[in-house]
Amino acid sequence: MTNVSSMKTALKASAPDADIFESLRAAPARIDLSPGVPDLAAFPRTAWLRAERAILADLSASDLGYGDPRGAPALRRAVANWLARNRGIRVEASEVVIVAGTAQALGLLTRVLGDDGIGAVAVEDPGSLGVRQHLRNGQLDTPPIPVDSHGLRVDALRASGAPAVLLTPAHQFPTGVVLGGRRRRELMQWAGAGGLIIEDDYDAEHRYDRPPVPALRSMLAQHVCYAGSVSKLLAPALRVGWVLVPPRYSDALVAAKRFADLGNAILPQLVLAQLMESGQLERQLRLLRRRHRHRRDAMIEAIRTHLPGAVVHGAAAGLHLMITFQAEFADVDLAAAALAHGVKVQPLSWHSQHPNQPGLVLGYAANTPTDISQGVATLGNLLRRHPDSGIQPGIVDGSRRRGRRRQATSCPGDSGVQWDAGLAATRALRRRTASSTASMPVLRDGCRSEITAIR
Ligand SMILES: Cc1ncc(COP(=O)(O)O)c(C=O)c1O
Repeated sequence: MTNVSSMKTALKASAPDADIFESLRAAPARIDLSPGVPDLAAFPRTAWLRAERAILADLSASDLGYGDPRGAPALRRAVANWLARNRGIRVEASEVVIVAGTAQALGLLTRVLGDDGIGAVAVEDPGSLGVRQHLRNGQLDTPPIPVDSHGLRVDALRASGAPAVLLTPAHQFPTGVVLGGRRRRELMQWAGAGGLIIEDDYDAEHRYDRPPVPALRSMLAQHVCYAGSVSKLLAPALRVGWVLVPPRYSDALVAAKRFADLGNAILPQLVLAQLMESGQLERQLRLLRRRHRHRRDAMIEAIRTHLPGAVVHGAAAGLHLMITFQAEFADVDLAAAALAHGVKVQPLSWHSQHPNQPGLVLGYAANTPTDISQGVATLGNLLRRHPDSGIQPGIVDGSRRRGRRRQATSCPGDSGVQWDAGLAATRALRRRTASSTASMPVLRDGCRSEITAIR
């Protein structure tokens, strides 16, 4: 399914199919604001090639045979050192298992936990659809636990009775909230009473305002399964990640990895180990932070200009922004309309198990400021045409607050831009929210203060 009209149908389905991300990737578009990828043009090709040449020159013939399913010892050591330097985790190399990304870590964990009698892993709501798909594929239930401005609601987790929870504490996907200190303590109490935590540390290193918060695993080794990868540091296509589990699950995890694939490919492991140990990966991270920050600022500026009714969430870290609208319309319709106009975005409702405000998850890291601006302008044009969007032409940003009005920048190509979905379809998909009346197009306090803080 690669053409735009079938993709639009898929986008509007209430429960996206398992292949929805592949379908969206394959759909043609001028500008791709999908979240989840770093600036791939910044991949350190020269350093990678240099390291790979050096490794091949030294590699013995026997090194090219079958290896340890837990991963190459050099990479397991390098990962242990990396986690100590960057995530506050003290771990022996012998405890690190190298996997094909967080996705494989989740697949292996579903088997291990399922065999231990765990039938449900609670997840954040909103939370990553992709992660939920992986857990469900492993026959686990995924009860939704609400996320508020302090992160996962531990009282709701306790009330759910779930034996385990998966969360993204360093930078919650998709809201960008960091799990607050009090919530961390509550979560530790919950785990101390027998709960199991799966920590998806998926883009923790990409913090712009201060050093990242330490991983939960650094405090709770006995109760936390920890997963990380280089997908947001180098490239998802490398398919390299790592997983740490409490000692009681170690043997079962290694067995699951052995039966999955006998271990990761050796060459990328050794190259990565060298980049980690030589400081190249930290240099890459510093470079990415600078580039990503610039792109994030471009996206915030574009949102202020073209989407004046949008509330921006999660700007302090990560590779994407989440925006919500205090209005009533189906965000899948907006995503479908955007795709028809050459711009890929993900609707927030994909990542929500319970009805939410309409919103979008917008990746900025892999796009130039020009593309970001054009992509967001397209969204603005589409929204202005929609009677229920809460966006009014002619008012930009929080100007109303400051007691003056500015004329909206004119939007070339506005004429003829229509929602592709009819209003009836939109209404059918509409989600009721607590504040269902369309608000005036001003930025709310949360967003304003966030923007002020980061400038
Ligand atoms: C929240 C979250 N966790 C995990 C993953 C999977 O990452 P990996 O490439 O390491 O498998 C993704 C992918 O984007 C993600 O968004």
